[in-house]
Amino acid sequence: MKEPLCFTFGTRQTRVSFQDRLDVAGGRLTERTVTVFDQTTHDLFGQGALNPVILKPGEQNKTWTSVERIVEAALQKGLSRDDLLIGVGGGVVGDLTAFAASIYMRGCRVDLVPTTLIAMVDAALGGKTGIDFGRYKNMIGSFYPAENLRISVPVLASLPMDEYRAGLAEVIKTALLGDAELYALLRSKKEQILRQDQTLLEGIVERCIRIKGQIVEEDFNESGKREILNLGHTFGHALEALSGFAWKHGDAVAWGIGRALELGTNLGLTDKHYAREISDLLRAYGFTLEIRGYEAADLFQAMRADKKKRSGRLRFVLQRSLGVTEVLVVEDGDVLEVLNGM
Ligand SMILES: NC(=O)c1ccc[n+]([C@@H]2O[C@H](COP(=O)([O-])OP(=O)(O)OC[C@H]3O[C@@H](n4cnc5c(N)ncnc54)[C@H](O)[C@@H]3O)[C@@H](O)[C@H]2O)c1
Repeated sequence: MKEPLCFTFGTRQTRVSFQDRLDVAGGRLTERTVTVFDQTTHDLFGQGALNPVILKPGEQNKTWTSVERIVEAALQKGLSRDDLLIGVGGGVVGDLTAFAASIYMRGCRVDLVPTTLIAMVDAALGGKTGIDFGRYKNMIGSFYPAENLRISVPVLASLPMDEYRAGLAEVIKTALLGDAELYALLRSKKEQILRQDQTLLEGIVERCIRIKGQIVEEDFNESGKREILNLGHTFGHALEALSGFAWKHGDAVAWGIGRALELGTNLGLTDKHYAREISDLLRAYGFTLEIRGYEAADLFQAMRADKKKRSGRLRFVLQRSLGVTEVLVVEDGDVLEVLNGM
């Protein structure tokens, strides 16, 4: 199996190890370790788990109530600051567990075992934690990287196709940010990627981790370069929240990338040929770039709650072409023009 990857995020280290078979605890289990699952990941991977907390699955449960469940279990088992929470699941379990770890006694240790594609290539790495608040996506949270990520790509075999595909949205996003080889692979090996060719997939996961890891090492607190990782997210988060989280994160991000390309094209920034090529690629992977049933004004209102605004003004990650990315304040009228054209 591959060598572990090590990253430094702020003052903390994250070690990413790759496993042929899932080993949830990596030998770090003690009586004061609490392992967090959702019902699905517990059914799949939780056999014999010590001190499990089993949450309801899904974005609707990325809430204070779930954090309280984790904190209650930690208190009940007598965890101290040097004890460990382990989160086993997708981005929801990971964001919740790491957030709970960041506030439990002002911070205990946390490992993550990502079991969805989104969590492997994106959510588990880089230390963004959090919960949704009402309809506000990720509105409460912290920067708190896990000490260890244990990645076993074969666990993706049980992932339903729509969840797997949603993860590919973040893979495509990563390629667009500047990995021409990954982009070429996504274009030329679509069938193999969709049917989870293991060798290909392991390479893709590692590539995405390296790219995200490097970006976050440069700008852990998102005061600069890290913002580019939000490509498609300002539009996407608004749709996700407005749909009451019926839209999956990855699907909403793919739609958001489409809207960001259109916004960039309207502003004369994005190369038209590039915008068309990426939209075609997203459609080829089954993403929907046209939506019905949403009012432009409602989406715009949801965007106004986005964390990426500065001094009250919305900022967008836009691209000129592959790997040429800019973060810009955009006039409300230009955003509304895109939303009105949905
Ligand atoms: N912190 C970050 O930097 C970051 C980055 C990207 C996304 N996110 C967050 O991640 C979340 C989306 O992640 P997600 O798509 O993994 O959602 P999720 O955690 O809800 O997982 C999706 C579904 O797959 C199930 N599942 C998990 N592993 C499985 C497996 N191996 N086999 C079968 N089913 C399995 C889960 O039970 C769940 O029902 C969003 O909340 C998003 O905001 C965070």
